[in-house]
Amino acid sequence: MSKITVQCPATVANLVCGFDVLGMALDEPYDIMEVSLLEEPVIRIVSGDGFPLPSDPAQNTAGAPLIAMQDELEKPVGFEVIIHKKIKPGSGVGSSAASAAGAVVAANHLLKNRFSKEDLVRFAMFGEKVASGVKHADNIAPCIYGGITLIRSIFPLDIVSIPAPLLHVTVVHPQIEVKTADARQILRKEVLLKDAIRQWGNIAGLVAGFIKNDYELIGRSLEDVIIEPVRSMLIPGFDHVKSQCKTAGALGGGISGSGPSIFMLSRDIQTARAIEQVMKNIYNDIGLDYHTYVTTINHTGVKTA
Ligand code: HSE
Repeated sequence: MSKITVQCPATVANLVCGFDVLGMALDEPYDIMEVSLLEEPVIRIVSGDGFPLPSDPAQNTAGAPLIAMQDELEKPVGFEVIIHKKIKPGSGVGSSAASAAGAVVAANHLLKNRFSKEDLVRFAMFGEKVASGVKHADNIAPCIYGGITLIRSIFPLDIVSIPAPLLHVTVVHPQIEVKTADARQILRKEVLLKDAIRQWGNIAGLVAGFIKNDYELIGRSLEDVIIEPVRSMLIPGFDHVKSQCKTAGALGGGISGSGPSIFMLSRDIQTARAIEQVMKNIYNDIGLDYHTYVTTINHTGVKTA
């Protein structure tokens, strides 16, 4: 095989309380990537839909991971990557991770799966470094593994897949761009012990809620006392969306990744759709363009299209 086309899911990182350690993959939206094996050891990045992408592979979120992969190959090969970008960069649903994860999963198929999933996460994190200045795997890991993942550690990598009950996910993407690097820059570097205690109680509660299929516990644990109070200032209408969606029956939710997208979890599709309408009403009133998605958790990760 010398060419493969893959579907690369959007992801919600942090899951409110789990900054940099929790993430989940979504069934929609997703990017499509066509990756070809080249004999010449080069990396070519092509935009499949005219979307402007950095063409220097070292500066591209798909290119940097492939360079890292090339460095571990005995026989030098190259790759051409055609990206059809449906997940808008700066949206908060893992656009850079989809490119990074899609590139390495596709390349690994072409190399007869010689690398492990953990290796692929390690390579793909070079893409996150390009995008945000730091390596983090809370979009990459769910994008590659599917489902909900806990990244207990990135050095060394320790990734745990977390089972969960059926959940419906409603996402609103207000049409403003928030760069992850900027959204990290504004965070305080130190936290109060009382906030840390509350936060790790919530992380443990959320993971326990997923494993025990306990919707009430999931809802109670979707609370972030450290990151959200700072970042929510970047998102017009955030507090209103959150409170109105909970009133409409959402279990809970918050900023998706570093924003500006906001996500909400619901037990059933009717509630998820009602929440979509609440989000639409709020952004119509504000007069800000938006996209919404009503979707479910993706359990396959990057897959052949
Ligand atoms: N955990 C990262 C952050 C995710 O919140 O900065 C970025 O998508």
